[in-house]
Amino acid sequence: MSNVAESLGITNADAASARSRPCGNPFDLADEKSYAAWREWKLSSYPRRAAEIRFDISGLLAPTAGEKAALVAACAVCNMAIYRVPVRPETTGADAAAVLGGELRQFASHFALGIVEDHRSAGDDGIVAIEVTEQASKRAFIPYTKRALNWHTDGYYNPPDVPIRSMILHCARPAREGGENALLDPEIAYIRLRDASRAEIAAMMHPEAMIIPESVEEDGRVRPTSTGPVFIVDPVDGNLTTRYTARTRNIHWRDDADTRAAVARLDRLLGHEEEPLILKYRLEAGEGLLSNNVLHTRTAFENEDEAGRLLLRARYRQRIAGT
Ligand SMILES: [Fe+2]
Repeated sequence: MSNVAESLGITNADAASARSRPCGNPFDLADEKSYAAWREWKLSSYPRRAAEIRFDISGLLAPTAGEKAALVAACAVCNMAIYRVPVRPETTGADAAAVLGGELRQFASHFALGIVEDHRSAGDDGIVAIEVTEQASKRAFIPYTKRALNWHTDGYYNPPDVPIRSMILHCARPAREGGENALLDPEIAYIRLRDASRAEIAAMMHPEAMIIPESVEEDGRVRPTSTGPVFIVDPVDGNLTTRYTARTRNIHWRDDADTRAAVARLDRLLGHEEEPLILKYRLEAGEGLLSNNVLHTRTAFENEDEAGRLLLRARYRQRIAGT
C-alpha cells in the first residue's frame, strides 16, 4: 500500500485483499518459492466471470470510499475491474466525448492516474475518442473502424522504459451489435508460460524479445523503432508490465527457438482461446474498464446509422494506486 493510495483514501477493504497477496518477488525466475505462493493465490483468487468484477458506482466525479475500495480490490486480484455509472443524456449524446473527458480525468485522479510525477509523463492524460471516423489521420487505424481488434496491450509500441501501465476504457454508446471485449490479466499469461517452460518465459523477458519498427502515428508524428521485452518487471516496485501484440505484420520477434516457441504458445492461449480464464464482456453505456493495461481484444461491430459506438480511452504511465 503506497502513501499515494493512503492519501486517496484507498486503505480499507481493498487493502485487505492486497494484503492477502503473498510477499516476495514472484517474477524473479530465481525465486521459485515466492512464485509458487503467488501463483496459487492468483489462480484461486482470479474471477471466473466478468460479472464478479463489475461494480455500480454513484458517479465518475466522486466515487465513495467503498466504491473505490471495491474497484481497487478487484484490480489487486486480476488487474482489472468493470464499473457502471448512471447514464445521463449528456453522457451519451452529441457532446458525450467532451463531457466524459472531464469526468474521466477526475475519476482517474481517484486512483492516482494522471498525476504528473516527472517531466516524461507530463501531458500524458489525454483522452481519445474511439469511434468510426472518416478523419484522414485516423481511418487507416483499425480502432477507428468497425473491424475486430486482435490481442494486445495498449501502447505495446511504447519504449519499454515508458510503458503504459494502466488504462480506462469507458463506453458512452455501445454498438447496435458486437464490440465485445475479451480480457485477460497478463499475469495469467505469465503463469502459463513460466509453468510450461522456464526458457520461454525468460525469452519473453529478454530486452530484445519484440521489435516494433518505426512508423507514423495517428497525429502524424514518427514513432521510432521500439525494442523491448514482453514482460517487464519494474525495477522499483517489482510489478509486471506487459507489452504484447498478436499482430503478425510490422513486428519482429527475436530470432531464437525459445522466443518462437513462446510466441506460438501465446497465440494458442490467446488467439485460439485455449486459456480458460479469458473473460468476455461487452461494455454498455455508462460502463467502463479500469485496468492495469490488461490483454484485450474487440470483436467487430455494427453501428446504428447515426450516433454510433463511442468509447473513450485514457492511458497512463502509473499503475492504479493500491494495486
Ligand atoms: Fe486497446
